[in-house]
Amino acid sequence: MIKTLSVAPMMDWTDRHCRYFHRLLAPSVLLYTEMVTANALIHGDAERHLRYDESEYPVALQLGGSDPAALAKAVQIAAPYSYDEINLNCGCPSDRVQSGAFGACLMSSPETVRDCVKAMRDVSNVPVTVKCRIGIDDADEQSMLRDFIDIVGQSGCKTFIIHARKAWLQGLSPKENRDIPPLNYDLVHNIATENPNLSIHLNGGITTLEQMRTLLPNFDGLMIGRAAYHTPRLLIDIERAFFNPDWVIDDETLINTMAAYANQQQERHGTPIKTVTKHMINLFQGIQGARKWRQTISETAHKALSAEDVLIPAYQSISP
Ligand SMILES: Cc1cc2nc3c(=O)[nH]c(=O)nc-3n(C[C@H](O)[C@H](O)[C@H](O)COP(=O)(O)O)c2cc1C
Repeated sequence: MIKTLSVAPMMDWTDRHCRYFHRLLAPSVLLYTEMVTANALIHGDAERHLRYDESEYPVALQLGGSDPAALAKAVQIAAPYSYDEINLNCGCPSDRVQSGAFGACLMSSPETVRDCVKAMRDVSNVPVTVKCRIGIDDADEQSMLRDFIDIVGQSGCKTFIIHARKAWLQGLSPKENRDIPPLNYDLVHNIATENPNLSIHLNGGITTLEQMRTLLPNFDGLMIGRAAYHTPRLLIDIERAFFNPDWVIDDETLINTMAAYANQQQERHGTPIKTVTKHMINLFQGIQGARKWRQTISETAHKALSAEDVLIPAYQSISP
């Protein structure tokens, strides 16, 4: 079976500009959008939420919601954009999401999730997947996750991406909820072993190639979140390690391609240059020049008229 390496959905981070950048670094990883609520697509500017560049393929759209009819409608609205996968968010713990009664709190309503996924699958030709936690609050994570997978599985959902820690809905911020509840990879591995007919992807705390090499045999896929954003060159390493050993992309090609893209987005949509270049700020993370690169981008991006005003001085500042 082909394994999937993906970059996680991350609100305010994995917008289409970030995905364009990540795609240049790694042609074969699966990319996820930020979460978009079903209601935002139904009542808001769907085109603004859904448009993306063809080069981003393969790309999955993540939806948030808990009303089967609204989610089905959102899937239909998204259909013309030809996303490769639709994912339902059952893992986000923020208050805003809880007050809409979706995200991680859906872990305790698997029947609702089953009905949502069924309604989404009924109107979709592409796979509908679920991203969840291993549990919430003081529930027993072993039984909560098993029940969740069994019941949601009745919808025909075949792929679960599991962030291997609980979400504590009271008392922790969303950021703390990504670090404090302990990781339990073994539980997710057990779920994968018990359900050979399902595709189980592991997420949470994966930051190095070494870890990926160790974990990948136990799962159908791995999803990488913060490490991909904070150290984007990891994506080049992933492409080389798991898909294409000869893969190279040099800094000049990368920077020139991003500059052309940022200028084009500015011309076509009025997108400020900094909206694109902010995602490149960590490009040299971990190698010489990282600080100078970041500093020059921060100082120039807000007043830049073209991408060259930002990226050329930033690159010159670190080039010998
Ligand atoms: C800034 C930020 C925004 C996030 N937004 C979402 C989101 O919209 N939907 C979602 O399912 N998870 C979201 N997450 C969680 C990530 O998808 C992922 O599950 C989490 O960061 C754990 O993976 P990691 O340890 O590899 O970062 C977000 C994470 C971060 C850091």
